[in-house]
Amino acid sequence: MALPILSAAARRLEGKVAIVTGGASGIGEYTAKLFTSHGAKVVIADIQDELGQSLCKELGPSATFVHCDVSNEAHVKNVVDHTMAQYGKLDIMHNNAAIVGPLIPGIIDTTLSEFEKVIKVNLFGPFLGTKHAARVMIPAKQGSIITTASTASVIGGASMYAYTSSKHGVVGLMKNAAVELGNYGVRVNCVSPHITSTPLARSFLNMKDEEFSQFYSNIKGERCKVEDVANAALFLASDDSKYVSGHNLFVDGGFTIMNTGFCMYEYAK
Ligand SMILES: NC(=O)c1ccc[n+]([C@@H]2O[C@H](COP(=O)([O-])OP(=O)(O)OC[C@H]3O[C@@H](n4cnc5c(N)ncnc54)[C@H](O)[C@@H]3O)[C@@H](O)[C@H]2O)c1
Repeated sequence: MALPILSAAARRLEGKVAIVTGGASGIGEYTAKLFTSHGAKVVIADIQDELGQSLCKELGPSATFVHCDVSNEAHVKNVVDHTMAQYGKLDIMHNNAAIVGPLIPGIIDTTLSEFEKVIKVNLFGPFLGTKHAARVMIPAKQGSIITTASTASVIGGASMYAYTSSKHGVVGLMKNAAVELGNYGVRVNCVSPHITSTPLARSFLNMKDEEFSQFYSNIKGERCKVEDVANAALFLASDDSKYVSGHNLFVDGGFTIMNTGFCMYEYAK
């Protein structure tokens, strides 16, 4: 269901144009809905054509779908060119598409081809998205590039080898781009969710939505939801974050700053 349309005063992306990769499902789908409800025109770039097109139908004239495999440079170039042709500008590039690959017991069982497959989507994808967004944002001297990373961007063992490597990698990519593109008024950041119930996570963990309640972190009883991640992306996309660049914004309820093996508050009880 599309989110309610907000009053002009409440809309934080009025007049802006965004691309959301992986926008047909999960976090990207909710983000596309949130961005349009805040007044943005959104181009959904995904490989799931049917889902993407039905989401656009639901969102009306504010959303369009472009088939795009983010690991293919011609596709990424095309989605940026399509956006420029249709709207004349690109304000927000949200590199959100990713895959996780199969659950593999360890490094010895990790094949080069599986590793490569994940890196191509999760790291090459944001590289191409950042590159082609920069191509049009540099002359415009403004823009916000956001890449969805993960808590696996800073800790080990939270996912598979390729996924963890790719998510560490996108933070490096983001930092380099933030340094370079800051010279042109373009901001570059990451948003890093904790485990969130989406088709990706449900299929990887073979779990139902209700089973995700076990993944609350430091905020008792609260688990990460797609809307929490989308709200963080909205902040990074909007002018509310106009002085925020080079940042990896964790939406993890404090998960990555806790040491679950040692907590003084447990002794103080
Ligand atoms: N769900 C979680 O627990 C979680 C946690 C941390 C980070 N993330 C990150 O959040 C982002 C969104 O994931 P999600 O959980 O919403 O998953 P999802 O599977 O629901 O959505 C991902 C979307 O990306 C698309 N996609 C996959 N490969 C693509 C490609 N090559 N080109 C274009 N689109 C492609 C899929 O079709 C899908 O629509 C990803 O970057 C993921 O790594 C998710």
